[in-house]
Amino acid sequence: MDAEINIPRHIAIVMDGNGRWAKARKRPRFMGHKKGVEIVREMVKTCSSLEVGYLSLFAFSSENWKRPEEEIKNIMGLFMMALDREAKALARNNVRLQIIGDLTQFSEKLQEKIKKVEALTAKSTGLQLIIAANYGGRWDVVEAARQLAIEVKAGTIEAESISEETLTNNLVTRDFPDPDLFIRTGGEKRISNFLIWQMAYAELYFTNVLWPDFDADELKKAIKDFSSRQRRFGKTGEQVVAEKAKEKR
Ligand code: IPE
Ligand code: IPE
Ligand code: MG
Repeated sequence: MDAEINIPRHIAIVMDGNGRWAKARKRPRFMGHKKGVEIVREMVKTCSSLEVGYLSLFAFSSENWKRPEEEIKNIMGLFMMALDREAKALARNNVRLQIIGDLTQFSEKLQEKIKKVEALTAKSTGLQLIIAANYGGRWDVVEAARQLAIEVKAGTIEAESISEETLTNNLVTRDFPDPDLFIRTGGEKRISNFLIWQMAYAELYFTNVLWPDFDADELKKAIKDFSSRQRRFGKTGEQVVAEKAKEKR
């Protein structure tokens, strides 16, 4: 990529469109999910080589339990298989994998597997891959609020001390910076309860490309678009330009 391209530190993606991809090929939805897993591998490779720090992928939302039982079973099966198959390669490639979400709803076997893979890659210092499974942004905020309430009740913190920072520090994403670039494939223009709190200032990028067709070039297109944006965080454009010029001096 061009030298002036600004690589986002954290990219968050809603991987949507697997079902429609399969339907267009007259294949079962499952085939779309299967191809989707292959795309995850390609994204991890590309983000590693571009030196993206964090890649968060929405794999299964807290709302996806509403899907037909058969599809849920298929998705869980794929998840297990992918963890089995990819764990060693992730560790070898210095990628750290962490799963966020309410994992208590998953089978014991899957929970154990998750712990094992996380431990296996815990020492990796390269790309941090964050898979959101049974994750919901509102769930995350509610859990953080509950935790703070417990601490107030126990007397370990004062209610008055609760701030954006203390809430942020109680989210499951507490160890990661906020996403800089949010991508949603599949044509829908919504967040679907992904990292709602954390994305307050993310740059949003929507594409009609379905997830199984999203490739390294599509990702680079999104990064290029991100790079062309002026992130003002409430300031004026002139202030931002002046600050950049000062940094360069
Ligand atoms: C995203 O693809 C994957 C999951 C939600 C697990 P979809 O399965 O939502 O695909 P579409 O939106 O039906 O095409
Ligand atoms: C969002 O996709 C969740 C994941 C990609 C895991 P959905 O396809 O479930 O989103 P909605 O229901 O169309 O908003
Ligand atoms: Mg969808």
